[in-house]
Amino acid sequence: QQPQPPRRGAFIVFEGIDRCGKSTQTALLAASLPNSLLRRFPDRTTKTGAIISSYLSHPSSSSASSPSAAATPSPPLPDEAIHLLFSANRWESAASLTALLRAGTNVIVDRYAYSGAAYTAAKGGGGGGGGVAGGLGLEWCKAPDRGLPTPDLVVYVDVAPAVAAARAGYGEERYERIEFQEKVAAAFAELRDERWVVVDGTRPVEEVQRTIEKVAREVVAKAGMEPLREDLWC
Ligand code: TYD
Ligand code: MG
Repeated sequence: QQPQPPRRGAFIVFEGIDRCGKSTQTALLAASLPNSLLRRFPDRTTKTGAIISSYLSHPSSSSASSPSAAATPSPPLPDEAIHLLFSANRWESAASLTALLRAGTNVIVDRYAYSGAAYTAAKGGGGGGGGVAGGLGLEWCKAPDRGLPTPDLVVYVDVAPAVAAARAGYGEERYERIEFQEKVAAAFAELRDERWVVVDGTRPVEEVQRTIEKVAREVVAKAGMEPLREDLWC
């Protein structure tokens, strides 16, 4: 019998609009998939994460109604700047993710570069975006994440924005408005590639979980035979 090199882990990304059920499903998959670890983006525990977290907790309109606004008179971050911070937040973790994968751990992440591109492109009127190259066009939005570790599987949890909006806690953070989430969903649709599996997030939690687990186990079995790629969108 030949000595085998260590099998690498599978890199599994979850994407979807706010309140689609990603957090529930990533936790369930991490609990059922052996030798797996769960991470999330934005990672609010790092320095860039703290800025992102503060940005997200403020209302999207720059109204003066926020009581804390007077106490912290710093100007709002431009869309381009916060976009680059979200990307930097992923680059901060890239080396540790690849190290885990190479050591054989299956890494599950709640949101990744697809969220990064889709949410910013939605601000630029993107989504149906007519090939806009500059400003907040989809290609511009994808650029800073180019070359990140490439997922083996993207699980897109599909829920209509109106359905997500009816779920508990909706509207607490910036971006949680139906019209905006419609644009995000349209931008996600443009990012779909051959690694995507779309699951119906309106089905019962256990049913969604079973569907995802089956696909994930197949991907884990195959991942060990393919080299890890660090060429997202290249
Ligand atoms: P979310 O997954 O909702 O975090 P939490 O469960 O802690 O609320 O992510 C927060 C928001 O950030 C969400 O509206 C999507 C948005 N986002 C971006 O705009 N760009 C990004 O690159 C990422 C990862 C998230
Ligand atoms: Mg949220």
